[in-house]
Amino acid sequence: MADRDNPLPPKPSAQRLGREKLPPPVKDFRIDAFGAQPRTGGFRALVAALGLAMPSSIFADVPQAQPVLVFKLTADFREDPDPRKVNLGVGAYRTDDCQPWVLPVVRKVEHQIARNDALNHEYLPILGLPEFRSNASRIALGDDSPAIKEKRIGSVQSLGGTGALRVGAEFLRKWYNGTNNAATPVYVSSPTWENHNGVFGAAGFTDIRTYHYWDAAKRGLDLQGLLQDMENAPEFSIFVLHACAHNPTGTDPTPEQWEKIASVMKRRFLFPFFDSAYQGFASGDLDRDAWAVRYFVSEGFELFCAQSFSKNFGLYNERVGNLTVVGKDGDNVLRVLSQMEKIVRVLWSNPPAQGARIVATTLSSPEHFTMWKENVKTMADRILLMRAELRSRLEALGTPGTWNHITEQIGMFSFTGLTAKQVEYLINEKHIYLLPSGRINMCGLTTKNLDYVAASIYEAVTKIQ
Ligand SMILES: Cc1ncc(COP(=O)(O)O)c(C=O)c1O
Repeated sequence: MADRDNPLPPKPSAQRLGREKLPPPVKDFRIDAFGAQPRTGGFRALVAALGLAMPSSIFADVPQAQPVLVFKLTADFREDPDPRKVNLGVGAYRTDDCQPWVLPVVRKVEHQIARNDALNHEYLPILGLPEFRSNASRIALGDDSPAIKEKRIGSVQSLGGTGALRVGAEFLRKWYNGTNNAATPVYVSSPTWENHNGVFGAAGFTDIRTYHYWDAAKRGLDLQGLLQDMENAPEFSIFVLHACAHNPTGTDPTPEQWEKIASVMKRRFLFPFFDSAYQGFASGDLDRDAWAVRYFVSEGFELFCAQSFSKNFGLYNERVGNLTVVGKDGDNVLRVLSQMEKIVRVLWSNPPAQGARIVATTLSSPEHFTMWKENVKTMADRILLMRAELRSRLEALGTPGTWNHITEQIGMFSFTGLTAKQVEYLINEKHIYLLPSGRINMCGLTTKNLDYVAASIYEAVTKIQ
Protein backbone atom coordinates (compact mmCIF):
# COMPACT_ATOMS: atom_id res chain seq x y z
CA MET A 1 0.00 0.00 0.00
CA ALA A 2 1.64 3.07 -1.24
CA ASP A 3 0.70 5.21 1.73
CA ARG A 4 2.29 2.90 4.29
CA ASP A 5 5.35 2.27 2.13
CA ASN A 6 5.79 5.91 1.40
CA PRO A 7 4.46 8.35 3.99
CA LEU A 8 5.00 11.28 1.63
CA PRO A 9 2.25 11.91 -0.89
CA PRO A 10 3.26 10.75 -4.37
CA LYS A 11 4.79 13.45 -6.51
CA PRO A 12 2.37 14.70 -9.13
CA SER A 13 3.59 13.63 -12.52
CA ALA A 14 4.33 16.32 -15.06
CA GLN A 15 1.81 14.72 -17.40
CA ARG A 16 -0.96 14.74 -14.80
CA LEU A 17 -0.36 18.42 -14.18
CA GLY A 18 -0.48 19.00 -17.91
CA ARG A 19 2.95 20.54 -17.73
CA GLU A 20 6.23 19.78 -19.39
CA LYS A 21 9.28 18.38 -17.63
CA LEU A 22 11.76 21.07 -16.80
CA PRO A 23 14.18 21.57 -19.67
CA PRO A 24 17.90 21.84 -18.95
CA PRO A 25 18.82 25.14 -17.28
CA VAL A 26 18.63 27.90 -19.80
CA LYS A 27 20.24 31.24 -20.05
CA ASP A 28 18.86 33.78 -17.66
CA PHE A 29 17.87 36.47 -20.12
CA ARG A 30 17.90 39.23 -17.51
CA ILE A 31 21.57 38.73 -16.91
CA ASP A 32 22.41 37.96 -20.52
CA ALA A 33 20.92 41.20 -21.61
CA PHE A 34 23.69 42.95 -19.74
CA GLY A 35 26.41 40.62 -20.99
CA ALA A 36 26.82 38.59 -17.79
CA GLN A 37 27.43 34.84 -17.70
CA PRO A 38 24.38 32.61 -17.97
CA ARG A 39 23.28 31.36 -14.58
CA THR A 40 23.11 27.65 -13.93
CA GLY A 41 21.88 27.81 -10.33
CA GLY A 42 18.89 29.68 -8.97
CA PHE A 43 15.27 28.72 -8.58
CA ARG A 44 14.92 26.70 -11.78
CA ALA A 45 17.97 24.55 -10.92
CA LEU A 46 16.62 23.96 -7.43
CA VAL A 47 13.24 22.94 -8.82
CA ALA A 48 15.02 20.57 -11.26
CA ALA A 49 17.14 19.07 -8.47
CA LEU A 50 13.99 18.30 -6.51
CA GLY A 51 12.51 16.58 -9.55
CA LEU A 52 9.58 18.95 -9.69
CA ALA A 53 7.88 20.06 -12.84
CA MET A 54 7.57 23.64 -14.05
CA PRO A 55 5.13 25.05 -16.53
CA SER A 56 6.76 26.10 -19.78
CA SER A 57 5.31 29.55 -19.15
CA ILE A 58 3.34 30.96 -16.27
CA PHE A 59 0.84 32.02 -18.95
CA ALA A 60 0.56 28.51 -20.44
CA ASP A 61 -2.97 28.01 -19.09
CA VAL A 62 -4.39 31.34 -20.29
CA PRO A 63 -7.31 30.58 -22.62
CA GLN A 64 -7.62 32.45 -25.91
CA ALA A 65 -10.38 35.05 -25.62
CA GLN A 66 -12.81 35.64 -28.45
CA PRO A 67 -12.00 38.79 -30.45
CA VAL A 68 -14.36 41.76 -30.08
CA LEU A 69 -16.72 41.13 -32.96
CA VAL A 70 -17.03 44.61 -34.43
CA PHE A 71 -13.25 45.16 -34.45
CA LYS A 72 -12.68 41.69 -35.91
CA LEU A 73 -15.12 42.54 -38.69
CA THR A 74 -13.11 45.65 -39.54
CA ALA A 75 -9.86 43.65 -39.56
CA ASP A 76 -11.46 41.09 -41.92
CA PHE A 77 -12.71 43.92 -44.11
CA ARG A 78 -9.22 45.45 -44.35
CA GLU A 79 -7.72 42.15 -45.42
CA ASP A 80 -10.37 41.49 -48.06
CA PRO A 81 -8.82 42.31 -51.49
CA ASP A 82 -12.19 42.45 -53.30
CA PRO A 83 -12.70 45.95 -54.78
CA ARG A 84 -16.46 45.77 -54.16
CA LYS A 85 -16.07 45.36 -50.39
CA VAL A 86 -18.20 47.49 -48.07
CA ASN A 87 -17.86 47.89 -44.30
CA LEU A 88 -21.26 48.37 -42.64
CA GLY A 89 -20.00 47.12 -39.28
CA VAL A 90 -17.87 49.73 -37.61
CA GLY A 91 -19.64 52.37 -35.49
CA ALA A 92 -17.91 55.41 -36.94
CA TYR A 93 -18.91 58.16 -39.36
CA ARG A 94 -17.65 58.01 -42.92
CA THR A 95 -17.86 60.58 -45.72
CA ASP A 96 -19.46 59.82 -49.08
CA ASP A 97 -15.94 58.78 -50.15
CA CYS A 98 -15.92 56.24 -47.34
CA GLN A 99 -13.28 58.19 -45.44
CA PRO A 100 -13.10 59.16 -41.75
CA TRP A 101 -14.02 62.81 -41.24
CA VAL A 102 -12.19 65.28 -39.05
CA LEU A 103 -14.88 67.85 -38.30
CA PRO A 104 -13.85 71.28 -39.68
CA VAL A 105 -14.51 72.84 -36.28
CA VAL A 106 -12.23 70.29 -34.66
CA ARG A 107 -9.43 71.05 -37.16
CA LYS A 108 -9.83 74.76 -36.49
CA VAL A 109 -9.72 74.36 -32.72
CA GLU A 110 -6.80 71.94 -32.94
CA HIS A 111 -4.76 74.58 -34.76
CA GLN A 112 -5.77 77.15 -32.18
CA ILE A 113 -4.65 74.83 -29.38
CA ALA A 114 -1.37 74.03 -31.11
CA ARG A 115 -0.55 77.75 -31.39
CA ASN A 116 -1.38 78.45 -27.75
CA ASP A 117 1.95 78.59 -25.93
CA ALA A 118 0.22 79.12 -22.61
CA LEU A 119 -0.94 75.48 -22.63
CA ASN A 120 1.20 72.75 -21.11
CA HIS A 121 1.08 69.05 -20.33
CA GLU A 122 0.62 69.19 -16.57
CA TYR A 123 -1.75 66.67 -15.02
CA LEU A 124 -5.40 67.66 -15.13
CA PRO A 125 -7.40 67.45 -11.90
CA ILE A 126 -8.61 63.91 -11.19
CA LEU A 127 -12.18 64.82 -12.14
CA GLY A 128 -11.04 66.51 -15.33
CA LEU A 129 -10.90 69.91 -17.01
CA PRO A 130 -13.49 72.11 -15.23
CA GLU A 131 -14.60 74.04 -18.35
CA PHE A 132 -15.01 70.78 -20.24
CA ARG A 133 -17.10 69.21 -17.49
CA SER A 134 -19.47 72.15 -17.06
CA ASN A 135 -19.96 72.69 -20.79
CA ALA A 136 -20.48 69.01 -21.49
CA SER A 137 -23.15 68.76 -18.79
CA ARG A 138 -24.80 71.91 -20.12
CA ILE A 139 -25.12 70.30 -23.56
CA ALA A 140 -26.81 67.28 -22.02
CA LEU A 141 -29.11 69.09 -19.62
CA GLY A 142 -29.81 72.30 -21.55
CA ASP A 143 -29.03 75.97 -20.89
CA ASP A 144 -32.09 76.48 -18.76
CA SER A 145 -31.89 73.24 -16.80
CA PRO A 146 -33.44 73.62 -13.33
CA ALA A 147 -30.78 71.24 -11.97
CA ILE A 148 -27.96 73.49 -13.22
CA LYS A 149 -29.66 76.62 -11.88
CA GLU A 150 -30.12 74.97 -8.49
CA LYS A 151 -26.47 73.86 -8.50
CA ARG A 152 -27.27 70.22 -7.94
CA ILE A 153 -25.29 68.71 -10.74
CA GLY A 154 -21.70 67.57 -10.99
CA SER A 155 -19.60 65.81 -13.56
CA VAL A 156 -16.56 63.68 -14.18
CA GLN A 157 -14.45 63.81 -17.34
CA SER A 158 -13.95 60.25 -18.52
CA LEU A 159 -12.24 58.11 -21.11
CA GLY A 160 -15.02 58.13 -23.67
CA GLY A 161 -18.59 57.15 -23.00
CA THR A 162 -17.30 53.76 -21.87
CA GLY A 163 -15.29 55.39 -19.09
CA ALA A 164 -18.31 57.42 -17.97
CA LEU A 165 -20.40 54.25 -17.78
CA ARG A 166 -17.67 52.48 -15.85
CA VAL A 167 -17.20 55.26 -13.28
CA GLY A 168 -20.96 55.48 -12.80
CA ALA A 169 -21.29 51.71 -12.50
CA GLU A 170 -18.42 51.45 -10.01
CA PHE A 171 -19.97 54.21 -7.93
CA LEU A 172 -23.40 52.60 -7.95
CA ARG A 173 -22.02 49.21 -6.98
CA LYS A 174 -20.20 50.76 -4.04
CA TRP A 175 -22.59 53.42 -2.82
CA TYR A 176 -26.06 53.31 -4.34
CA ASN A 177 -28.96 52.31 -2.12
CA GLY A 178 -26.73 51.16 0.72
CA THR A 179 -23.16 50.10 0.34
CA ASN A 180 -21.74 47.24 -1.64
CA ASN A 181 -24.89 46.29 -3.47
CA ALA A 182 -23.41 44.03 -6.08
CA ALA A 183 -26.69 42.10 -6.19
CA THR A 184 -28.86 45.10 -7.17
CA PRO A 185 -30.37 44.22 -10.55
CA VAL A 186 -29.07 46.21 -13.51
CA TYR A 187 -31.38 46.16 -16.53
CA VAL A 188 -30.12 46.70 -20.06
CA SER A 189 -32.29 46.76 -23.16
CA SER A 190 -32.69 43.66 -25.31
CA PRO A 191 -30.74 44.06 -27.52
CA THR A 192 -28.19 46.64 -26.44
CA TRP A 193 -24.65 47.82 -27.13
CA GLU A 194 -22.91 44.64 -26.07
CA ASN A 195 -20.40 46.42 -23.83
CA HIS A 196 -23.09 47.42 -21.32
CA ASN A 197 -23.03 43.89 -19.94
CA GLY A 198 -19.24 43.86 -19.74
CA VAL A 199 -18.93 47.26 -18.10
CA PHE A 200 -21.50 46.63 -15.38
CA GLY A 201 -20.14 43.12 -14.83
CA ALA A 202 -16.59 44.45 -14.52
CA ALA A 203 -17.83 46.98 -11.97
CA GLY A 204 -18.95 44.07 -9.82
CA PHE A 205 -22.69 43.79 -10.52
CA THR A 206 -23.76 40.16 -10.45
CA ASP A 207 -27.39 40.40 -11.55
CA ILE A 208 -27.52 41.96 -15.02
CA ARG A 209 -30.90 41.45 -16.67
CA THR A 210 -32.51 42.50 -19.90
CA TYR A 211 -35.70 44.45 -20.43
CA HIS A 212 -37.90 44.07 -23.49
CA TYR A 213 -37.13 46.66 -26.12
CA TRP A 214 -37.20 45.41 -29.70
CA ASP A 215 -40.24 43.81 -31.22
CA ALA A 216 -38.80 41.81 -34.11
CA ALA A 217 -42.19 41.10 -35.68
CA LYS A 218 -43.27 44.71 -35.95
CA ARG A 219 -39.69 45.99 -36.24
CA GLY A 220 -40.25 48.62 -33.61
CA LEU A 221 -40.32 49.33 -29.91
CA ASP A 222 -41.95 46.80 -27.59
CA LEU A 223 -43.33 49.44 -25.23
CA GLN A 224 -45.69 47.09 -23.41
CA GLY A 225 -42.93 44.59 -22.73
CA LEU A 226 -40.62 47.36 -21.55
CA LEU A 227 -43.19 48.84 -19.17
CA GLN A 228 -44.10 45.41 -17.85
CA ASP A 229 -40.45 44.65 -17.07
CA MET A 230 -40.24 47.93 -15.19
CA GLU A 231 -43.38 47.08 -13.23
CA ASN A 232 -41.89 43.71 -12.29
CA ALA A 233 -38.37 44.93 -11.48
CA PRO A 234 -37.41 45.08 -7.80
CA GLU A 235 -37.55 48.63 -6.46
CA PHE A 236 -34.27 50.56 -6.78
CA SER A 237 -33.14 48.47 -9.74
CA ILE A 238 -30.88 50.33 -12.14
CA PHE A 239 -32.08 50.84 -15.73
CA VAL A 240 -29.60 51.69 -18.47
CA LEU A 241 -31.49 53.84 -21.00
CA HIS A 242 -30.18 54.93 -24.39
CA ALA A 243 -30.74 58.70 -24.45
CA CYS A 244 -31.25 58.72 -28.23
CA ALA A 245 -30.38 56.82 -31.41
CA HIS A 246 -30.60 53.44 -29.70
CA ASN A 247 -27.70 51.14 -30.54
CA PRO A 248 -28.27 48.74 -32.26
CA THR A 249 -31.94 49.15 -33.22
CA GLY A 250 -32.08 52.84 -34.21
CA THR A 251 -35.46 52.89 -32.51
CA ASP A 252 -36.23 55.40 -29.75
CA PRO A 253 -39.36 55.91 -27.66
CA THR A 254 -41.43 58.94 -28.67
CA PRO A 255 -41.80 61.75 -26.10
CA GLU A 256 -45.21 60.33 -25.10
CA GLN A 257 -43.66 56.90 -24.61
CA TRP A 258 -40.80 58.39 -22.55
CA GLU A 259 -43.43 60.02 -20.32
CA LYS A 260 -44.97 56.62 -19.65
CA ILE A 261 -41.54 55.13 -18.95
CA ALA A 262 -40.68 57.93 -16.53
CA SER A 263 -43.97 57.58 -14.75
CA VAL A 264 -43.45 53.85 -14.05
CA MET A 265 -39.82 54.41 -13.07
CA LYS A 266 -40.77 57.10 -10.61
CA ARG A 267 -43.50 55.01 -8.98
CA ARG A 268 -41.26 51.94 -8.77
CA PHE A 269 -38.16 53.84 -7.50
CA LEU A 270 -36.02 52.74 -10.46
CA PHE A 271 -32.76 54.51 -11.15
CA PRO A 272 -32.24 55.95 -14.67
CA PHE A 273 -28.70 55.69 -15.99
CA PHE A 274 -28.75 57.38 -19.41
CA ASP A 275 -26.19 56.49 -22.03
CA SER A 276 -25.88 59.38 -24.46
CA ALA A 277 -23.42 58.35 -27.16
CA TYR A 278 -25.15 59.91 -30.19
CA GLN A 279 -26.49 63.34 -29.25
CA GLY A 280 -27.06 65.17 -32.53
CA PHE A 281 -26.95 62.02 -34.64
CA ALA A 282 -30.61 61.14 -34.20
CA SER A 283 -32.30 64.28 -35.47
CA GLY A 284 -29.38 66.56 -36.31
CA ASP A 285 -30.57 68.76 -33.44
CA LEU A 286 -28.75 68.61 -30.08
CA ASP A 287 -31.74 69.76 -28.05
CA ARG A 288 -34.21 67.36 -29.58
CA ASP A 289 -31.85 64.46 -29.03
CA ALA A 290 -31.50 65.38 -25.34
CA TRP A 291 -35.25 65.54 -24.80
CA ALA A 292 -35.55 62.34 -22.73
CA VAL A 293 -32.73 63.20 -20.30
CA ARG A 294 -34.08 66.70 -19.81
CA TYR A 295 -37.60 65.43 -19.29
CA PHE A 296 -36.45 63.03 -16.56
CA VAL A 297 -34.57 65.90 -14.85
CA SER A 298 -37.66 68.11 -15.04
CA GLU A 299 -39.60 65.28 -13.38
CA GLY A 300 -37.27 65.47 -10.36
CA PHE A 301 -35.29 62.25 -10.93
CA GLU A 302 -31.82 61.80 -9.52
CA LEU A 303 -29.91 60.27 -12.39
CA PHE A 304 -26.65 59.69 -14.20
CA CYS A 305 -25.95 60.56 -17.81
CA ALA A 306 -22.89 59.13 -19.56
CA GLN A 307 -21.88 61.20 -22.59
CA SER A 308 -19.56 60.24 -25.40
CA PHE A 309 -17.96 62.79 -27.71
CA SER A 310 -16.50 60.06 -29.90
CA LYS A 311 -19.23 60.26 -32.54
CA ASN A 312 -20.65 63.76 -32.47
CA PHE A 313 -17.16 65.33 -32.40
CA GLY A 314 -15.48 62.52 -34.36
CA LEU A 315 -12.97 62.27 -31.50
CA TYR A 316 -12.97 58.48 -31.37
CA ASN A 317 -9.36 57.94 -30.38
CA GLU A 318 -9.04 60.93 -28.07
CA ARG A 319 -11.25 59.12 -25.55
CA VAL A 320 -13.39 61.97 -24.37
CA GLY A 321 -16.55 61.51 -22.36
CA ASN A 322 -18.37 62.92 -19.38
CA LEU A 323 -20.52 61.57 -16.60
CA THR A 324 -23.17 63.97 -15.34
CA VAL A 325 -24.65 63.41 -11.91
CA VAL A 326 -28.00 65.03 -11.10
CA GLY A 327 -28.93 64.93 -7.42
CA LYS A 328 -31.59 66.32 -5.13
CA ASP A 329 -29.22 68.95 -3.75
CA GLY A 330 -25.70 70.23 -4.19
CA ASP A 331 -24.41 68.76 -0.97
CA ASN A 332 -25.30 65.21 -2.05
CA VAL A 333 -23.63 65.75 -5.39
CA LEU A 334 -20.40 66.96 -3.78
CA ARG A 335 -20.17 63.81 -1.69
CA VAL A 336 -20.91 61.65 -4.72
CA LEU A 337 -18.13 63.42 -6.65
CA SER A 338 -15.72 62.92 -3.75
CA GLN A 339 -16.26 59.16 -4.07
CA MET A 340 -16.02 59.28 -7.85
CA GLU A 341 -12.67 60.99 -7.46
CA LYS A 342 -11.48 57.95 -5.50
CA ILE A 343 -12.78 55.64 -8.23
CA VAL A 344 -11.05 57.58 -11.02
CA ARG A 345 -7.81 57.68 -9.05
CA VAL A 346 -7.46 53.92 -9.25
CA LEU A 347 -8.86 53.56 -12.78
CA TRP A 348 -6.83 56.10 -14.81
CA SER A 349 -5.74 58.55 -12.13
CA ASN A 350 -6.46 61.60 -14.27
CA PRO A 351 -7.80 62.05 -17.76
CA PRO A 352 -6.11 63.13 -21.00
CA ALA A 353 -6.36 66.79 -21.99
CA GLN A 354 -6.45 67.10 -25.77
CA GLY A 355 -9.98 65.88 -26.50
CA ALA A 356 -11.40 67.74 -23.51
CA ARG A 357 -9.71 70.97 -24.64
CA ILE A 358 -11.14 70.61 -28.13
CA VAL A 359 -14.66 70.05 -26.81
CA ALA A 360 -14.43 72.76 -24.14
CA THR A 361 -13.06 75.34 -26.60
CA THR A 362 -15.79 74.52 -29.10
CA LEU A 363 -18.66 74.57 -26.64
CA SER A 364 -17.60 77.76 -24.90
CA SER A 365 -17.28 79.91 -28.03
CA PRO A 366 -20.56 80.94 -29.73
CA GLU A 367 -18.85 80.98 -33.12
CA HIS A 368 -17.30 77.52 -32.74
CA PHE A 369 -20.47 76.17 -31.22
CA THR A 370 -22.48 77.24 -34.25
CA MET A 371 -19.94 75.65 -36.54
CA TRP A 372 -20.03 72.42 -34.55
CA LYS A 373 -23.83 72.24 -34.77
CA GLU A 374 -23.54 72.65 -38.55
CA ASN A 375 -20.94 69.86 -38.70
CA VAL A 376 -23.17 67.55 -36.66
CA LYS A 377 -26.06 68.36 -38.98
CA THR A 378 -23.91 67.53 -42.01
CA MET A 379 -23.32 64.05 -40.56
CA ALA A 380 -26.95 63.54 -39.54
CA ASP A 381 -28.21 64.68 -42.95
CA ARG A 382 -25.91 62.33 -44.84
CA ILE A 383 -27.21 59.46 -42.73
CA LEU A 384 -30.82 60.47 -43.42
CA LEU A 385 -30.08 60.62 -47.13
CA MET A 386 -28.52 57.14 -47.11
CA ARG A 387 -31.58 55.80 -45.28
CA ALA A 388 -33.93 57.21 -47.88
CA GLU A 389 -31.77 56.02 -50.79
CA LEU A 390 -31.37 52.48 -49.46
CA ARG A 391 -35.07 52.11 -48.77
CA SER A 392 -36.12 53.38 -52.17
CA ARG A 393 -33.68 51.03 -53.93
CA LEU A 394 -34.82 48.00 -51.91
CA GLU A 395 -38.43 48.81 -52.68
CA ALA A 396 -37.76 49.50 -56.35
CA LEU A 397 -36.09 46.08 -56.65
CA GLY A 398 -39.17 44.48 -55.08
CA THR A 399 -37.15 43.05 -52.20
CA PRO A 400 -39.48 40.78 -50.20
CA GLY A 401 -40.58 42.23 -46.84
CA THR A 402 -41.20 45.79 -45.71
CA TRP A 403 -38.43 48.36 -45.61
CA ASN A 404 -40.11 51.40 -44.05
CA HIS A 405 -38.17 50.72 -40.83
CA ILE A 406 -34.98 51.82 -42.62
CA THR A 407 -36.23 55.41 -42.74
CA GLU A 408 -38.20 55.24 -39.50
CA GLN A 409 -35.14 54.24 -37.48
CA ILE A 410 -32.75 57.00 -36.51
CA GLY A 411 -29.11 57.60 -35.72
CA MET A 412 -26.10 55.82 -37.07
CA PHE A 413 -27.54 52.31 -37.10
CA SER A 414 -30.31 50.39 -38.70
CA PHE A 415 -31.55 47.02 -37.56
CA THR A 416 -32.32 45.62 -40.97
CA GLY A 417 -34.11 42.43 -39.97
CA LEU A 418 -31.63 40.37 -42.03
CA THR A 419 -31.07 36.94 -40.50
CA ALA A 420 -27.68 35.58 -39.38
CA LYS A 421 -27.61 33.33 -42.48
CA GLN A 422 -28.34 36.23 -44.82
CA VAL A 423 -25.58 38.20 -43.10
CA GLU A 424 -23.21 35.29 -43.64
CA TYR A 425 -24.12 35.29 -47.32
CA LEU A 426 -23.49 39.02 -47.62
CA ILE A 427 -20.08 38.71 -45.99
CA ASN A 428 -18.91 35.57 -47.78
CA GLU A 429 -20.40 36.11 -51.22
CA LYS A 430 -20.74 39.87 -51.49
CA HIS A 431 -17.89 41.18 -49.30
CA ILE A 432 -20.35 43.34 -47.39
CA TYR A 433 -19.44 43.30 -43.71
CA LEU A 434 -22.13 43.69 -41.05
CA LEU A 435 -22.94 42.30 -37.60
CA PRO A 436 -24.71 38.91 -37.30
CA SER A 437 -27.65 40.72 -35.69
CA GLY A 438 -28.30 42.43 -39.02
CA ARG A 439 -27.24 45.84 -37.70
CA ILE A 440 -25.75 48.11 -40.32
CA ASN A 441 -23.95 51.40 -39.92
CA MET A 442 -25.64 53.75 -42.36
CA CYS A 443 -22.39 55.73 -42.69
CA GLY A 444 -20.81 52.80 -44.52
CA LEU A 445 -23.20 53.51 -47.40
CA THR A 446 -22.20 55.97 -50.09
CA THR A 447 -23.71 57.18 -53.34
CA LYS A 448 -21.17 54.87 -55.05
CA ASN A 449 -21.96 51.62 -53.24
CA LEU A 450 -25.73 51.99 -52.66
CA ASP A 451 -26.75 50.14 -55.83
CA TYR A 452 -24.40 47.28 -55.07
CA VAL A 453 -25.52 46.99 -51.43
CA ALA A 454 -29.23 47.13 -52.31
CA ALA A 455 -28.85 44.51 -55.06
CA SER A 456 -26.87 42.28 -52.70
CA ILE A 457 -29.49 42.56 -49.95
CA TYR A 458 -32.14 41.69 -52.56
CA GLU A 459 -30.13 38.63 -53.50
CA ALA A 460 -29.57 37.57 -49.89
CA VAL A 461 -33.25 37.94 -48.99
CA THR A 462 -34.51 36.09 -52.06
CA LYS A 463 -31.92 33.29 -52.00
CA ILE A 464 -31.52 32.64 -48.27
CA GLN A 465 -34.65 32.12 -46.18
C1 LIG B 1 -24.57 52.97 -26.91
C2 LIG B 1 -23.13 53.28 -26.73
N1 LIG B 1 -22.69 53.67 -25.54
C3 LIG B 1 -21.40 53.98 -25.33
C4 LIG B 1 -20.48 53.89 -26.34
C5 LIG B 1 -19.04 54.18 -26.02
O1 LIG B 1 -18.50 55.26 -26.61
P1 LIG B 1 -16.96 55.59 -26.50
O2 LIG B 1 -16.32 55.08 -27.73
O3 LIG B 1 -16.93 57.06 -26.36
O4 LIG B 1 -16.42 54.92 -25.27
C6 LIG B 1 -20.88 53.48 -27.62
C7 LIG B 1 -19.91 53.35 -28.70
O5 LIG B 1 -20.11 52.72 -29.70
C8 LIG B 1 -22.24 53.17 -27.82
O6 LIG B 1 -22.70 52.77 -29.01
